[in-house]
Amino acid sequence: MIEYRNLRIALLGAGAVGSQVASLLLEHGDELAGRVGAGLELVGVAVRDLEAPRSTAIPQQLLTTDAHSLILGADIVIELIGGIEPAREYLLLALNSGADVITANKALLATHGPELFELAEQVGAQLYYEAAVGGAIPIIRPLRDSLAGDRVHRILGIVNGTTNYILDRMDLEGDSLEEALAAATELGYAEADPTSDIEGYDAAQKAAILASLAFHTTVPLELVHREGIASITHEQVVSARKAGFVVKLLAVCERLTDPATGVEGVCARVHPALVPLTHPLAAVHGANNAVFLEAEAAGSLMFYGAGAGGIQTASAVLGDVVSAARRHVIGGPGVAESTHADLPILPISSVVTRYQITLTVSDRPGVLAQIATLFSTHGVSVEAVTQSVGHDTGHGPSAGAGHHLSEPTATLVIGTHQATEGALADTVAALGASDVVTAVTSVLRVEGTE
Ligand code: HSE
Repeated sequence: MIEYRNLRIALLGAGAVGSQVASLLLEHGDELAGRVGAGLELVGVAVRDLEAPRSTAIPQQLLTTDAHSLILGADIVIELIGGIEPAREYLLLALNSGADVITANKALLATHGPELFELAEQVGAQLYYEAAVGGAIPIIRPLRDSLAGDRVHRILGIVNGTTNYILDRMDLEGDSLEEALAAATELGYAEADPTSDIEGYDAAQKAAILASLAFHTTVPLELVHREGIASITHEQVVSARKAGFVVKLLAVCERLTDPATGVEGVCARVHPALVPLTHPLAAVHGANNAVFLEAEAAGSLMFYGAGAGGIQTASAVLGDVVSAARRHVIGGPGVAESTHADLPILPISSVVTRYQITLTVSDRPGVLAQIATLFSTHGVSVEAVTQSVGHDTGHGPSAGAGHHLSEPTATLVIGTHQATEGALADTVAALGASDVVTAVTSVLRVEGTE
């Protein structure tokens, strides 16, 4: 029996996700009302252009270009326009006018999250954002609620579908990065300007959001270390598979202790990494996303599914709508953002991990010994070396000082034990300057091993 008044829902944006949210709200309104205990009334959809083509039919009388009036008359405001402004201004207005807000806007949360969370707490409103990371995958609520009694140690996330699709094609279809990107663009995964995906900005925003939640600490976007996949080559992907790995763009968020200073804190980083073929993340194909998480009591958990897509992302938004609506019916202040731990944010130089380095070297006696000495001089312990003779890739990020064109060369793939970023960087610099090294063709971190 529904006795509560209808809740007024304003939708800002009718793009790929927004039009699906409108359509699902209109189609399943009665069922959702039963779950909430109140009717959910979509009172309007704010758009820039009333005549623009949309992926679902929204009744014309719901469309408006007057976002302000729509916001001021709503109980729940859903922001799906993306970007920083005017999304930020609209959300501040909505919170100030007493509405709960729902957003999928990772860029806004990663840059202005604290301002929005603070205002939400002040006015006793809720800010929901399940769709901001991992599309349809429930990951925000598990981190915020289900794991609130546990201690998260580490998150390894594939949180950008476009780059996962590209790397997967390079691995399984033998594409070059350019070919795979063209395919991703054709399928509508990559944006017309794919910089945000390829260069890791999109994944870094999601890493900032996940790390902040997981470690109860505000992690500013500018402190997330970021490297994209633009320099990943087909050769690296092939050689990774031969060695039992797959290349993935990972968002890594972890608690750690800086080995030099002893400071305990958190670090968030986005970069391509080698993941063992036996790790669950290696089985994440196509444009799918997955978040693999290690917690003290729960152990390892993995959340997997569609990381983007209009209707898939709309599922996460509607889950937030039901949560927000239930709170209206039940009352109470809701869950505040938890940043009480306020841990130091550590730089990438604090990270200790394993590496795989590929070198083209002169194939003559004593070379291996010289290279081994360079590693030991810098305190980096070698775990495994494989050599193949006569394969000169001829190019790489760092040409050695002693490049002799006529000399036979060999390719060395060197896996290290755990080492600090600093020691590794010094080793790579020394290798680049060595007489016996023709080129350092690849340096990749190895994640997902003990
Ligand atoms: N461009 C993003 C991706 C969309 O490729 O995953 C979802 O944020």
